[in-house]
Order: sequence, then C-alpha cells, then structure tokens
Amino acid sequence: MKKLIGIAATGAMLLALTGCATSGNAASDGPKPLDELVVGFAQVGAESGWRTANTKDIQASFEEAGIELKFSDAQQKQENQIKAIRSYIQQQVDVIAFSPVVETGWDAVLNEAKAAGIPVVLTDRAVDSQDDSLYVSFLGSDFVAEGEKAGQWVLDEYADSSESVKIIQLEGTTGAAPAIDRAEGFAEVIAENPNLEVVASQTGDFTRAGGKQVTEALLKSNPDVDLIYAHNDDMGLGAIEAIEAAGMEPGVDIKIVTVDAVKDGMQALADGKINFIVECSPLLGKQLVDIVKQINDGEAPEKRIITEETTFTQEEAIEALPTRQY
Ligand code: AHR
Repeated sequence: MKKLIGIAATGAMLLALTGCATSGNAASDGPKPLDELVVGFAQVGAESGWRTANTKDIQASFEEAGIELKFSDAQQKQENQIKAIRSYIQQQVDVIAFSPVVETGWDAVLNEAKAAGIPVVLTDRAVDSQDDSLYVSFLGSDFVAEGEKAGQWVLDEYADSSESVKIIQLEGTTGAAPAIDRAEGFAEVIAENPNLEVVASQTGDFTRAGGKQVTEALLKSNPDVDLIYAHNDDMGLGAIEAIEAAGMEPGVDIKIVTVDAVKDGMQALADGKINFIVECSPLLGKQLVDIVKQINDGEAPEKRIITEETTFTQEEAIEALPTRQY
C-alpha cells in the first residue's frame, strides 16, 4: 500500500479545501476525540465477492479505530446513494465517504456536502466532475492500469499466433469507473496486435448471475470464441458455469482473464478454469481511517492515493491461496 504522506496543514487550510463554512464538524473546532467522530459511508451494494470483502474490511477498520461508522448499501442504484449522502448531511456527520456506483451525476449532492462543511472522501471509484474541490481525497485502484495488465497477458499469450483471436468482454456496471477504465486499458494494449479482436462486449453488472447469463447468450452467437475478458472475478465465475453448461472446458477451450483475485476467483485460477487474474485490492479500510484521522487533525490528505496491486498466474494463485485474506 502506498504510504499516506500527510501534508501538514491547519484546520483553516482544510476548511479552505472543502469550502466549509459551518458547524461542529471535524477540525473546525480542533480535533475531536476519536470516539466522538461520526463517519457516513455510502457503499455501492453487495454485488460481488470483492464488495463483500471491502465492506467487511471498512467496518472492521472503523471498529478497531473506535470511530463510529454509519453504513448504507445502495443496492447498485445511484439514487439510493444520493439519498444516503443527503441523510448523512442532515445528520451532520464529520466525514462522508463513498464509492460511487457510476462516474457522473454527483455535482449537486457533493455541492450540498461542501456547503454543509462536510469533507467527502472517495473510496474505490472516481467521480467524473470538473470540480475536484468537491472531495478531499480519492483512495483506490488505477483501473486503467488493471485493464492494461489484462491486455498485456493476452498480448503475450497470443504473440506467436498468426490467426484471429476472438474475444468476448464481460463489462462491469455501465457507467462505473472500473468498467470504463478496464475496457480502455485493455483496448489500448491489445490494439498492438490486429489479430486480437473483441467480437462482443456486454455488461454483466459485476455479478456472477450477470456473467453467466451474458456468456450463455454470447456463446450462441460466437461459438468459436477463444477468450473471455471479465471485468471482475464474479462475472468470470458465471462465465465458467455457462461454458461448462455448453459442454466446453473453461481455461482450455475458452481462456478466461479476470480482475479482482478474491478467493473464489483464485481457486478457479488454481484449478485451471481461469488463466490469469489482475489483482484489485478491496482492503481499503485502514487507509480510509488514516484519511479520516488526518481530516480530524486539520491536515490535508493526499488528493489521490493509489492502491498497490499485483497479478496472478496459476502457480502464483496456488502459492497465495492458503494465506489469502478475502
Ligand atoms: O469497483 C471495484 C469493482 O467493483 C470490483 O472489481 C468489482 O468486483 C466490484 O463489484
């Protein structure tokens, strides 16, 4: 994990950062004792193994730090997340943190938080806004780099192939940062070899059921597909079920590359049903607690904190599985 380098700053500086004007929020009257701090966290949902691990880690980290965490699950709906954020503003929490379901459409509610003097921290996913004063820090992965790593494996795997390689892409939630960026990074890298062709690309909404359903349908129109690139493990695991149901061998007849490296995905990689996984770490809780403490102390956290991540081959998955936390 990249180390948080706190830039020493006064409470007044942080208030300038957030454009705060008001109230009894953290740092406006000096640091609060940790057991008096209240953080509102608006989670995306429970769509994947990754998300479940992320929720657990965040809840456990705040409990360990002795900071109260109000938690809401938006069930992958932006309107639910906006409602949750508005409710945290009304409750005058000290900090709001959230992982945006989709990239766009946040300016209005984030301006409300800013007007109320409540600092906002983005975790995991970015917002697409012209105004970066609407949040104090963004903690999460580089999704474009994840797509590039997946693309690089495919490029290397088929480096000696002179024939066309047909690829199906299972996209994450439409409009979500990881779906947009993982598609972009992958496309950029595989463009180096004109034999690599994405013949179909559809959303499976980051769920196992979605991955299975989309793969079933796409296999009918593309029975000769060579490889599936799934934007997360869960959709890859759904694809495995669809491939097996079609009488083929996942990992052999159709190769699979995914992103996340949760335990179920790593097991499938160890079993040879997935061929390569790009890691996306859900363990953001401790870093989020550090950011909240910095805000409480009147310091300005780093604006962008990128999570350090690796990749896994079958051998590496076999080695990592016994101690895998999630
Ligand atoms: O935003 C992170 C992504 O969201 C994870 O890759 C995926 O599993 C989750 O649903």
